[in-house]
Amino acid sequence: MKASVAVVTGGTRGIGLEISRALIRDGHIVAAVYFGNNEAAIRFDEEAGDKGKSFKFDVANYEACERSCAEIERELGEVSVLVNNAGITRDGVLHKMPLENWHDVISTNLDSCFNMSRALMTGMRERKYGRIVNISSINGQKGQFGQVNYAAAKAGMIGFTKALALESAAKGVTVNVVCPGYIETDMTGSVKQEVLDSIVKQIPVARMGKPEEIADTVSFLTSEKASFITGATISANGGQYMV
Ligand code: CAA
Repeated sequence: MKASVAVVTGGTRGIGLEISRALIRDGHIVAAVYFGNNEAAIRFDEEAGDKGKSFKFDVANYEACERSCAEIERELGEVSVLVNNAGITRDGVLHKMPLENWHDVISTNLDSCFNMSRALMTGMRERKYGRIVNISSINGQKGQFGQVNYAAAKAGMIGFTKALALESAAKGVTVNVVCPGYIETDMTGSVKQEVLDSIVKQIPVARMGKPEEIADTVSFLTSEKASFITGATISANGGQYMV
């Protein structure tokens, strides 16, 4: 196991926080990227101590990613793990969706994967080692009523992963995508209870997932044990959708 710096976008809350915690346990120094919630970032910094640090910038902004990734490497060291986890929802049916809700979701969820990977890939290729894990969604695999923007971005992440895996394989950089199902976070908490109840009825394990269950998957994929896994789409959804 190479001790190294791991970058987790959206790394101070929800699934991302548990991923940050898991990667710290695995021996990484974690740069947890956030944009909105200062209190969560302060809590993360206190909890992580010298094993992690929060960095505030907008992953949808190319220049901010380029500048901030350079700052992370100057401050913490060479990055060998990138987890593109940051994501937002702006749910609503297409025929009522403001253009802004389309662009916001595509840029935060999908452009961010390009921006962050572009900023960190050259170093990984030069060092001939890297692990990129993109956090997509079950809804990028199967679609979801009220989520044309989110489903498009999350499906885009799957194609992005496969193409980048092909480009990176010979350089020791693996690129995989995890598709969580419905996980107990603030994001699913904002779905109306009756809608959520109807979704949980469709999950064979009869419960929502826990952020830790996604973090464990990411921990494995970022380890040296997963050296032969690249371009893979890993579903972690309690059996709700099998591909
Ligand atoms: N399939 C078919 N029809 C549906 C439907 C479905 N799944 N859901 C709703 N409808 C119908 C309703 O029956 C209703 O029809 P009528 O007008 O004929 O009665 C119509 O669509 C409007 O439904 P709503 O009353 O729900 O409309 P709304 O405007 O209040 O809400 C919505 C729309 C915000 C999209 C809401 O349906 C919703 O929240 N859906 C769930 C979206 C969702 O699953 N988001 C996941 C967030 S978590 C996440 O994204 C993490 C992850 O990766 C899994």
